[in-house]
Order: sequence, then C-alpha cells, then structure tokens
Amino acid sequence: MTDTQTQAAAPPDGPATRHFDFSLLSAEMRYRLLASTVLPRPIAWVVTMSADGVVNAAPYSFFNVFGADRPVVALGILARPEPEKDTAANIRATGEFVVNLVPHALVEAMNATCVDAPPEVDEIALAGLSAVPSIGVRPPRIAQSPVALECRMTHLLETGPGQLLVVGEVLHAHYAAHVLTGDPARPRVDGLALDLVARMHGPTAYTRTRDLFDLDRPLWNGAAHNKE
Ligand SMILES: Cc1cc2nc3c(=O)[nH]c(=O)nc-3n(C[C@H](O)[C@H](O)[C@H](O)COP(=O)(O)O)c2cc1C
Repeated sequence: MTDTQTQAAAPPDGPATRHFDFSLLSAEMRYRLLASTVLPRPIAWVVTMSADGVVNAAPYSFFNVFGADRPVVALGILARPEPEKDTAANIRATGEFVVNLVPHALVEAMNATCVDAPPEVDEIALAGLSAVPSIGVRPPRIAQSPVALECRMTHLLETGPGQLLVVGEVLHAHYAAHVLTGDPARPRVDGLALDLVARMHGPTAYTRTRDLFDLDRPLWNGAAHNKE
C-alpha cells in the first residue's frame, strides 16, 4: 500500500477493495488504471487532412458512438508535448475526420499507422493501404476498412491541459456489402462478419468481438423495450 491508496475490508456482498484518490495519483498512474479498466474499447482509425492537403491516419480507442439523433461519435485525444498530435491539429484546422473501423485482418496495418511520423507522412500509404475519396468531407476513407463514418466536428472540448474531446456528427457511412444482411431497405449489420478488434488492458493487448451470448431484456407490464 502507498499513501495514494487505502485498503478496505470486504463488504458482505463484494470483494475487498483498494481505494485510489485520483487527485493524489500521477497522470501516468491514472492512465494506467483507467485505460486498463474501461474495456474493451472499440478503435476509431481516424483519417484527417491538414489544411494544405496532407492525409493522416492514426488509431484512437478513446472512442464511441453517443447518439443517433443527431448521430454523434466522440474521440479522446491525449495531450502530447508540442506539437500536438496530427489528428488534433487537423481536426482543429478543418473540422473534418473519417472514422474507419478495424477488423482483425487489418490490425497490423492499424498498428503501423500509430507511428509518430512527422506531419508530412501519409500513414495510409505507409501502411500499404489505399485511400478512397469521401463524399461529404475532404479526408478520404480507408478502402480496406469494412465501415467508414464521415464526420464533421460539432464540439471541441478541452478536458485537460492539451487533452481534447472531439464530438462529431456522422454525415455519411460506407459499409462493405458483405457485412450487411437482410432486406436492403432495412439492412442489419452482421457483427460477426465485421470481425472487429478492440483495445484491452496494457499497451499491447487486443480482443476480438466473437465471444457472443444473448440476454433478453426484462419487460415491465409487457412493454416492449428494445432500444437503448
Ligand atoms: C490501438 C491504439 C489506440 C490508441 N488510442 C489512442 C487514444 O484514444 N487517444 C490518443 O491520444 N492516442 C491513442 N493512441 C496513440 C496514437 O495513435 C498515437 O499517438 C499516434 O502517433 C497519433 O498519431 P497522429 O499524430 O497522426 O494523430 C492509440 C494507439 C493505438 C495503437
């Protein structure tokens, strides 16, 4: 135990716990705890373009969808000593980004794009991938990715010194035909066909999204409730 932690006896209905006062922890320790706890995290493979047209791609696992009306996603971009991450600089400059999702077949390529290359390097080409022009934004999408979401920034929050939360509205989505099933007028996404990966604890651990089970929702007074 250290002076930033206290140990508590086990309550009758739970395990013994250790308590961390986050105000006493280093930023590195807070990252180690939180990034290894909120799991699994989907990976946004974010393509942006600088104001002068240089394409950039990098993975971001502080990512999720936060609504459908409007359809919004958010990215957490951690602080980096000057210069800030290219993704942050490009989104600030242009307000546009494309989120590509990462199937297991593309993990090596995704990993290659997290290299801290200088801003003039096009990581899509570096990873042996190809870019396809988007419809509503300037940054392209990654041809090999099974899903791409073209986004326009709606909010940029500075949540800590140099740390950003980017909220974006999804303007257009591109789905590989093989991940859509059913009636084309109301298609369903086949999550198993997507075969996405997600981030786990520690700097190198990932998981696949194939370990499924079903759980019916409880009904109160028989009221159907099948949306979030
Ligand atoms: C799987 C994975 C997930 C990552 N998630 C994040 C994240 O959520 N936020 C962040 O700031 N950096 C994250 N990184 C690190 C960035 O990808 C890395 O700093 C990259 O060099 C940034 O590139 P850029 O300067 O082109 O934006 C992640 C890296 C990997 C491999």
